[in-house]
Amino acid sequence: MQLAVVTGASRGLGREVCRQLAEQGWTVLLTARGDGVAEEVARQLDHPRVEGHRLDVTEPDEANALAAALRERHGRLDALVNNAGAIFDAHGVGVLGGAEAIQRSLHTNTMGAVHVTAALAPLLVETGGGCIVNVSSGMGALTDMGTGHPGYRLSKAAMNALTKVLAGELRGSGVRVNSVCPGWVATDMGGPNATRTVEEGASGIVWAATLGPDGPTGGFFRNGQPIDL
Ligand SMILES: NC(=O)c1ccc[n+]([C@@H]2O[C@H](COP(=O)([O-])OP(=O)(O)OC[C@H]3O[C@@H](n4cnc5c(N)ncnc54)[C@H](OP(=O)(O)O)[C@@H]3O)[C@@H](O)[C@H]2O)c1
Repeated sequence: MQLAVVTGASRGLGREVCRQLAEQGWTVLLTARGDGVAEEVARQLDHPRVEGHRLDVTEPDEANALAAALRERHGRLDALVNNAGAIFDAHGVGVLGGAEAIQRSLHTNTMGAVHVTAALAPLLVETGGGCIVNVSSGMGALTDMGTGHPGYRLSKAAMNALTKVLAGELRGSGVRVNSVCPGWVATDMGGPNATRTVEEGASGIVWAATLGPDGPTGGFFRNGQPIDL
């Protein structure tokens, strides 16, 4: 049995990653914030290997409760997908005037992944290895940094740095840590004009969550291909 935890799975890419992993035979803890939301989405997916669990990634207590439940019920973890994310920047507002949105972006998009990883990475190590996937964005790549949505850009650039730092810390443990950009995907965040379907976007995330022991670590990928950080 292989077990994955996916954050921010109430809709969009997270929900689809859960579905694809379950189709591949994985047991999946679909997590979402709020009372009963994860349980309801898991029920809608109607897959025997998907179970719902509450998790607001900005609440370290909830991440620790999830780790305790996981340890008790399953005793292992093979993949963690840090997918939860949001855009807080008002349209057209830059760094100047955008400090509050930048803070909120870092709080959810970066610190959320930090809290969840701190709670769950020990279980990956105890399992003997596995994958952490940080769902990032090309908008966070320093090599292609533009303007607009500064909170989102800073939070994803920091997430990419988190990937590299964690990959170094966990080297030798068997845990591989990578960032993935799903491309521009037609979700609530990506909007209807996006060029990729949810299924296509999710497949690159699933690829990174299911890498074997010889897979890469500390990289940034789109469609399974390395891209510049
Ligand atoms: N769509 C794109 O084009 C695109 C491109 C590059 C990267 N990405 C990244 O892909 C990831 C998924 O995005 P998406 O397109 O699927 O967006 P989405 O449809 O807007 O879904 C975002 C998900 O994150 C959850 N979330 C937000 N804050 C949370 C918190 N504090 N705790 C737990 N869950 C939280 C949302 O839950 P609620 O329902 O409770 O709000 C929702 O399930 C994000 O990290 C995003 O930055 C997306």
